[in-house]
Amino acid sequence: MENSKIREIAQQYETPLYIYDKKKIESNYNELKASIFPGARLFYSMKANPLVGICQIFKNLQAGIETASMGEMYVALQAGFLPENIIFTSPGKTREELKYALAKKIKLINIESFREAQMISEIAKELGIIAKIGIRVNPAVCYSNAKIKMTGVSSQFGIEEEQLTQEFFDKISKLENLEIQGIQIYMGTQLLLAEDIVKNTEYAMKLAVSLSERYGFKLRYLNVGGGFGVKYFKNETPLDFVELKEKMNELHKQLNDSLKDTEVIFESGRFLMANTGEFVTKVLYTKESKGQKYVVCDGGSNFHSSAAFLGRFVRNNFPLHTIPEGEQLTEATVCGPLCTPLDVIGQKVSINSDIDENHLVVIEMSGAYGYTYSPCRFLSHEQPYEILVDGEEIKVLRNRSNAQEYMNGQNIL
Ligand SMILES: Cc1ncc(COP(=O)(O)O)c(C=O)c1O
Repeated sequence: MENSKIREIAQQYETPLYIYDKKKIESNYNELKASIFPGARLFYSMKANPLVGICQIFKNLQAGIETASMGEMYVALQAGFLPENIIFTSPGKTREELKYALAKKIKLINIESFREAQMISEIAKELGIIAKIGIRVNPAVCYSNAKIKMTGVSSQFGIEEEQLTQEFFDKISKLENLEIQGIQIYMGTQLLLAEDIVKNTEYAMKLAVSLSERYGFKLRYLNVGGGFGVKYFKNETPLDFVELKEKMNELHKQLNDSLKDTEVIFESGRFLMANTGEFVTKVLYTKESKGQKYVVCDGGSNFHSSAAFLGRFVRNNFPLHTIPEGEQLTEATVCGPLCTPLDVIGQKVSINSDIDENHLVVIEMSGAYGYTYSPCRFLSHEQPYEILVDGEEIKVLRNRSNAQEYMNGQNIL
């Protein structure tokens, strides 16, 4: 987004704040939709950014939605998604959440253990309905450049491919009020090689088809995850969409016959949202300590922990710039206001050597796993505005909170 627009919004609303760009969300969706397996549906993984206003944009684009809790299902329904476009996947679903999902008649619950299938069968019986389930599989292999692997390794997610035996399906078939309708395989996040994504998709498709043939269930849905990555750091190469589309088309030619009665679903959170959002924080103080320049801002890892390296193996800085940008650069460490040395959102970065009070620091690529992934209650700061730029219009998606809200739900002794 242009600096003048960011400055205008930061002046009109208080910092820190998030700004999202609706046009970019729409173009990301259209680009990805055009590059996946022809005829497949694209679901938004709302864990990347659960704002109801963002979910509404995806609903209007005809996306489905992938949820991971009762809260997410509730927000998805508030956003206007029909239950038949909502999927629920999580390794730790409670009985209450399962009951909610079944009562709302959502499209599919992906089970991650046999015990979960038993619970769903019990609840479906109580409700007098047939529950539609998918089985989330942890496949034996995973092709990935990503540092965080969620399949092909030991994990809490899904049911091991090796455990999907005749005995398992015999046990499932004895459960009442339950029907297996699909397979879900999520390979991992931040995949940047089209070749890896297509190889994973091919593996998932062949595995699902062979499971349905071998164990005699109709494969109505095949959810092949996604994990489409984005370029955050200088050493990364963005995903090649021309190659992705080409390879997906080849795969379609190869497997379309076996999948002609199956709805193929892809999921994406990070790719759809990452480059659409910026985190804007204001400089409060600058100082020197032992020869190092520090820039202390009004928002930091409390609202953007990904930028402060949380959950990352490599301490790479998110792309950032200052407003004004300045011509002479200096090295500085950009911090938030927290009382922990971990509150660093730019470590030894090159920024305007005249950086001063009231200048802005803009952390780019912040639309996915930003605020939602952050320890936002730590030190009880007021929660940031979240703003949408929709062409010429500026819309507030979430208001700034105030100090009094910290008392909500608490009892004074
Ligand atoms: C089951 C499932 N689907 C989708 C996603 C979204 O992944 P991404 O944001 O990389 O697209 C995740 C992320 O953890 C996931 O666990």
